[in-house]
Amino acid sequence: MQSILVFHSIIRWAILFFGLWAVINGTTGLLNKRSFSSNDKKSSLFFMIFCDLQLLFGLILFFSNGWFNSMKAGMGAIMKNPIDRFFTVEHGFTMILAWILVHVGYSKVKKATDENKHKKMVVFFGIALILILISIPWPFRADGIQRSLFPKF
Ligand code: HEM
Repeated sequence: MQSILVFHSIIRWAILFFGLWAVINGTTGLLNKRSFSSNDKKSSLFFMIFCDLQLLFGLILFFSNGWFNSMKAGMGAIMKNPIDRFFTVEHGFTMILAWILVHVGYSKVKKATDENKHKKMVVFFGIALILILISIPWPFRADGIQRSLFPKF
């Protein structure tokens, strides 16, 4: 499962790149009142695709790296241990919420009228990106939760 963890760690950067690009596109589009462009579409689509991939790898890690087994052993003990609580509950739950927002946002952008598309991009992708940023196990997080910025091969 080491290779999946490596992918999961790297894909975070693709998500942050395309998420930020989509939010910047939405903001500049809204401010300049320009029409929806192919870059707007590309950034939104890639943001969603990498979130899908990340969800898949995250679920594999959750079920195969012992997190699910410790959950089956009892939620009480998990909630008392900040590291177990982070990886089994907080990280997964918040990231799935962000993933839902990206999907709902993508379909709202698609259905919206031209003048509303950028607003939807900013709101849905912006909130999703904030949730993702606060739920990544950054190196400055508490001991045990913190992970390095790049995977170690
Ligand atoms: C946008 C979505 C996500 C991002 C950006 C993200 C990011 C990360 C990062 C950076 C790590 C640390 C990797 C390392 O050790 O180098 C990690 C670990 C982990 N993630 Fe995610 N993640 C996301 C979604 C998910 C989801 C949806 C789940 C499960 C439902 C999940 C489950 C896990 C688990 C279980 C670990 C710990 C793996 C282990 O060390 O055994 N992640 N995640």
